[in-house]
Amino acid sequence: MKKIAVAIDGPAAAGKSTVAKQVAEIKGYTYIDTGAMYRAFTLYCLNKGVDCQDHDACVKLIPEVNIELKPGHLVFLNGEDVSREIRLPNVSGNVSYIASYKEIRLALVELQRKMAETSSVIMDGRDIGTYVLPNADVKIFQIASVETRAIRRYDENISKGIPCTLEEIEEDVRKRDYIDSHRDFAPLKPAADSVLLDTSYLNVEQVVEKVIEIIDAKLAEEKDA
Ligand code: DC
Repeated sequence: MKKIAVAIDGPAAAGKSTVAKQVAEIKGYTYIDTGAMYRAFTLYCLNKGVDCQDHDACVKLIPEVNIELKPGHLVFLNGEDVSREIRLPNVSGNVSYIASYKEIRLALVELQRKMAETSSVIMDGRDIGTYVLPNADVKIFQIASVETRAIRRYDENISKGIPCTLEEIEEDVRKRDYIDSHRDFAPLKPAADSVLLDTSYLNVEQVVEKVIEIIDAKLAEEKDA
């Protein structure tokens, strides 16, 4: 069977990972959460006491960092399960700085491309359709209003026992939107051949259904071509 690559890009808290996980399950693809990798790197810098706005100090840490994504959506940093810690507000507040450093991006993109070599994948991030997998079979750019995204992320954090306020989350989402879309290297932007999916007024099941429709239509098109 042909190996499929699906790219889902979009701003912070647009619901990409929730949807991608479910689509992966239904379609039998491997889900790759690239944001989790930038988060794990950020956690390493914070644990080391390195200022995430200090480019040179952060980039120096590249050889010390080993990030693995394991079954069950687990994220390991140097052999330790950090799946919960990488969602904490301090990581969310600093990750956009780390993700703006070209050297760190290149190291993580290499890992991401390797993961997509061996199986069908659905990969979510900011630059998957534009940079990581430019030949992906299907590219989706998933958006929602800032207010909707903040409420979704707030509810998610509370359900995971991560303390936060809605105001804090909304400010973080706005700040990350700005940094992610204004960085020089591989910024957040829709690929020219992506399908725009606004999820502001859709629930998770409806978005999953739409994504599967888009994938099936694209694959049918490719088959007929
Ligand atoms: O999807 P997320 O919120 O877990 O992503 C965390 C941060 O990582 C986000 O602010 C932008 C960055 N990121 C990126 O620059 N490129 C990716 N492919 C994935 C995430």
